[in-house]
Amino acid sequence: MPTMGALHDGHASLVRRAVESGKPVVVSIFVNPTQFGPHEDFDKYPRTLDADLAMLEALGVAATYCPAVEDLYPEGLEASRETARNLALPAVATTPLLEDRCRPGHLAGVALVVGRLFDQTRPRFAYFGEKDYQQLRSMEECVAADRARFGDLEIVRCATLRERDGLAMSSRNRYLSTEQRAQSLALSRALQSAHMSFRPADAEQMMRDQLAQSGLEIEYAVVRDATTLLDTTTFNAPTRALIAAKLGSVRLIDNVAFPARDPTRSKCPFAALFGFGTPTG
Ligand code: PAJ
Repeated sequence: MPTMGALHDGHASLVRRAVESGKPVVVSIFVNPTQFGPHEDFDKYPRTLDADLAMLEALGVAATYCPAVEDLYPEGLEASRETARNLALPAVATTPLLEDRCRPGHLAGVALVVGRLFDQTRPRFAYFGEKDYQQLRSMEECVAADRARFGDLEIVRCATLRERDGLAMSSRNRYLSTEQRAQSLALSRALQSAHMSFRPADAEQMMRDQLAQSGLEIEYAVVRDATTLLDTTTFNAPTRALIAAKLGSVRLIDNVAFPARDPTRSKCPFAALFGFGTPTG
């Protein structure tokens, strides 16, 4: 299971799931330089190795792998960045204009490091959180596209773990001031209320309004097809609402799944509740 450390209960939930499988679990801790942009928080990314190792030991992992930069990038960082730039990425990592637009090169750096971690550890299962949904979808596609390299490796999707008030757990949450911590609830609240809309476009507008009212700087607030992460105009197939927003210098992301609605019944999920008939058109 690949991580960048600064482990929290969200990571622990993935590790627990892996340990419960009964197979030996390897967790890697590596703050991967190739997935950070030049003006991003690589230097400031939290590093809490002693606490991480204690947590992983208590959870019962078989091994922790904490490689040095040279172990993953023996050709040097500049050459590795070039390799990442030239990777053939799946469409879901390059066409949605979500993380791929806001963090150019990020998903390429993730694909490069995760591929190399898989080469070195040869896992049968790899656990990824839905919290980073475009990353998860990208890794699913990368693995499916290169069976010769990855064999029968399966990506296991794990649900997002949240604080009691709804904020998705993240290593970066520790940087929120008290006031920003209160504002941060706008993300999960906007995602929750979005599904009350009739159409994805209405949901997007509703999310944008809520985020803006709470003073967040929106990078994206969208409803997309859950597989391709491209635009969709209906809720008839599974969709995913995704948000990226900034509070000061802290960038937060979150997303939720909206199951497909039955178009033959009603376009409004709460129609029965409100006594609506089946709308036409
Ligand atoms: P990191 O942010 O440390 O996350 C490691 C794994 O934990 C990812 O699969 C992520 O989606 C999952 N995760 C983080 N917060 C979670 C939460 N609240 N609930 C459930 N899962 C959560 O993502 C990365 O590291 C890196 O990009 C990596 C894949 C390790 C490549 O460098």
